[in-house]
Amino acid sequence: MPSNIQIQLDKRPVGEARLSDFKLVVSDTPPLQDGQVLVHHHYLSLDPYMRGRMNDAKSYAVPQALGQTMGGGTVGEVIESRNANYAVGSQVLGMGGWQQYSVVDGNQPGALRKVDTRQVPLSAYLGAVGMPGVTAWYGLVKIIEPKPGQTMVVSAATGAVGSAFAALSKARGCRTVGLAGGPDKCRYGLEELGFDACVDYKQHSSAASLGKALSAQCPDGIDGYFENVGGQVLDAALPLMNAFGRIAVCGMIAGYDGAPLPLAAPALILISRLRLQGFIVSEHREVWPAALEELGRLVAAGQLRPRESVAQGIEAAPEAFLGLLKGRNFGKQLVKLV
Ligand SMILES: NC(=O)c1ccc[n+]([C@@H]2O[C@H](COP(=O)([O-])OP(=O)(O)OC[C@H]3O[C@@H](n4cnc5c(N)ncnc54)[C@H](OP(=O)(O)O)[C@@H]3O)[C@@H](O)[C@H]2O)c1
Repeated sequence: MPSNIQIQLDKRPVGEARLSDFKLVVSDTPPLQDGQVLVHHHYLSLDPYMRGRMNDAKSYAVPQALGQTMGGGTVGEVIESRNANYAVGSQVLGMGGWQQYSVVDGNQPGALRKVDTRQVPLSAYLGAVGMPGVTAWYGLVKIIEPKPGQTMVVSAATGAVGSAFAALSKARGCRTVGLAGGPDKCRYGLEELGFDACVDYKQHSSAASLGKALSAQCPDGIDGYFENVGGQVLDAALPLMNAFGRIAVCGMIAGYDGAPLPLAAPALILISRLRLQGFIVSEHREVWPAALEELGRLVAAGQLRPRESVAQGIEAAPEAFLGLLKGRNFGKQLVKLV
């Protein structure tokens, strides 16, 4: 059995997460029991939610245990099998964690899913045709409920969730406006992701200034806002919401390191009769088949061309993860393990 490099959580961060919060360990993969398979991970997904799990605080999910391998989505290949449902060579999606290999009980419901890479690349099952894509789909379709001609806005617009949001919103005939950090990301949003406009929030030092720039791109106001960031970006968008607008609260990445995110004008929720709803995509399994079907079709047709930031080797995972929390990723952040 091969030896396995793993990244464990060593310490809980205080404020910003640091490289020293992680520890690299090497162990032998155990021999397989009946029903188990050995998966060689090709890609590990790095996702903002992992920062929340590093804390031992009130949350919708149990915290990442100290001294254990960091959890995370993986895609890879079965290289040994004692399970008739998973032949050697099968390509699978699972929650293998921050390590090169995982031993998985293939009989456990939901532990592994075979994926078809004829039209969708393997890595896309961690991004556009995976959890982040379904996240965009759920917030847009089930919470925002867009109508053709309406204006949709999304923050962290060029990332894994934002890029899928753009394709899904455009497919529904909506004016689709992004907020992203820096001119390169905004240009990419316009040229590759199909946004009608993209506002560089880093050019603005106040919510008022950002709001003015966003307003210029949303001449009919905002009907649906998909929030990934919080803080100043939300303060800029809220006054532009049309009456009976919908806000899907997906993420608050500006506060994941512990910074307070006060809302400047919550009375606007009442004044504009807004519907504001937070959600966790893993709690809505019923929509995944329909969402994945649409997302897979968009990728296969070239209507969703998500970019990837790929770090090389499991040792690079902690640094790439800290970069994701600082916006240094450009598109879906992955770690390539083969
Ligand atoms: N509710 C759910 O079930 C669910 C599921 C998946 C993801 N999410 C949330 O969705 C959001 C996007 O996730 P993702 O996987 O697509 O990540 P991502 O957008 O690929 O990467 C994170 C991006 O957030 C932006 N960012 C980071 N720090 C920021 C800050 N302080 N202020 C403003 N923007 C900042 C950066 O983009 P810029 O350079 O453009 O600022 C960065 O590239 C996250 O908030 C995540 O937690 C929620």
